[in-house]
Amino acid sequence: MDMAKTDLIAVVGCGYVGLVTAVGLAEQGMRVRAFDVDPVRLAACREHQFPMLEPGLEDAARAAGDRLTFHNVREEAWPHPAFTFIAVPTPQGDAGYPNLSMLRQVLMWIADGRSRASSENVIVIRSTVPPGTARWAHAEIERLIGGEVPVVANPEFLQEGRALQDFREPSRILIGSENRGAAEGLRDLMAFTSAPVIITDTSTAELAKYGSNAYLAMRISFANEMARLAEREGADPLVMLQAVGLDPRIGSRYLKPGVGYGGSCLPKDVAALVSMGSAANEPMELMRATQEVNELQRRRIIRTLADALEGLGGRRVAVLGLAFKPGTNDVRDSPGLQIARELLTAGADVVTWDAAVTSDLLPAADAELSVIGDPLEALRGADAAILCTEWPEIVDLDFSRAAEMMKGTLLVDGRYAWDPLRASNAGLDLVRIGTSRPVRHAAVSA
Ligand code: UDX
Repeated sequence: MDMAKTDLIAVVGCGYVGLVTAVGLAEQGMRVRAFDVDPVRLAACREHQFPMLEPGLEDAARAAGDRLTFHNVREEAWPHPAFTFIAVPTPQGDAGYPNLSMLRQVLMWIADGRSRASSENVIVIRSTVPPGTARWAHAEIERLIGGEVPVVANPEFLQEGRALQDFREPSRILIGSENRGAAEGLRDLMAFTSAPVIITDTSTAELAKYGSNAYLAMRISFANEMARLAEREGADPLVMLQAVGLDPRIGSRYLKPGVGYGGSCLPKDVAALVSMGSAANEPMELMRATQEVNELQRRRIIRTLADALEGLGGRRVAVLGLAFKPGTNDVRDSPGLQIARELLTAGADVVTWDAAVTSDLLPAADAELSVIGDPLEALRGADAAILCTEWPEIVDLDFSRAAEMMKGTLLVDGRYAWDPLRASNAGLDLVRIGTSRPVRHAAVSA
């Protein structure tokens, strides 16, 4: 496909995936029109003020200048671009199955604004969608406009906090298409990276995205389950998992135990696989167990705290970390936020701190949650503190000053991030998930 044809790109959906795709393509010299339905979000995007904390994104958008513009789907017609990337949310719907209603709306918008059918315009589904969705979208658009428009499944593998870097240098480019020309056109568009390209059918590409996230979630649940047993047996969970991960067939990433996985993808995608399995009469037992272990981690940390404090009612607890992981201000399915909510429900007096999450970023239902801007201040008068997100400010906490600020001495490490020796030297008692007595393991050497 020559560059003149690929020059105009539309990206529908200015959320995480859409913005990174739009900015990433504009950075490569393409003219990108990004669409959304939310006028407030569009106004902020035009000022390059994006809702998420993502290194380099605002600078790259600014550098792209006029090549990247933002438009309202409700006010503008579809501009007949060479490629239309659809990156709208596919939230967890009934029984865990993704809700595709926003994708359906985008197809209708494309059909409405279309004066003629053309196989020159390729629709690329970037959202995470169940197998069969691209084929359904292809039939749907054909029915709506009476012509052939190729629909390609091109799932992304972006990690929050390094999403632009992942876009520039992806681990792989996965293109699912029933139309060879469209697949090759997309491959050429992405030729700025040296990533391996897999061209396959749409269902394979769609399912591979779920497989990838599900495998990561499963590893984390494995690490959590093994860590709990290690605690019971008096073994060191981190050294044990380090030893497991050094087997090159296994590898050491995504084996870190803690409060469990969160975020916008892993929990939702595991739930979707469970739901797809039941619909296909292929029960996904490993996925169910992965979910259960993840939920158990959050319950265990509350129980650990309740045991150590001999009840939660009226106890002041500092929850350190509301983002689902460090480096982001995203609280979707965040273990820290869920733990804070459950502690409140159990009658505790909860204060929270996060390096990037401020109270205006919390859902309206969490308005009563107090978010304090300084970690030591959050510890003032606390009976206990829980580490839920391993922000450097918390991992490297000055334990002597923390001990001065706190009323009690209890630290609960929900991420295996604190050094127990440093804590005990400051007179603090550190417990981890699954234990209700202070641990005295030696620090792990690399
Ligand atoms: C994930 C996938 O990594 C990415 O490829 C996909 O496109 C979107 O979903 P993200 O949601 O940004 O990315 O988070 P990730 O960095 O993978 O972490 C997910 C969760 O697992 C976090 O809550 C993190 O704290 C937790 N985690 C991760 C662990 O508990 N232990 C680990 O060893 C690794």
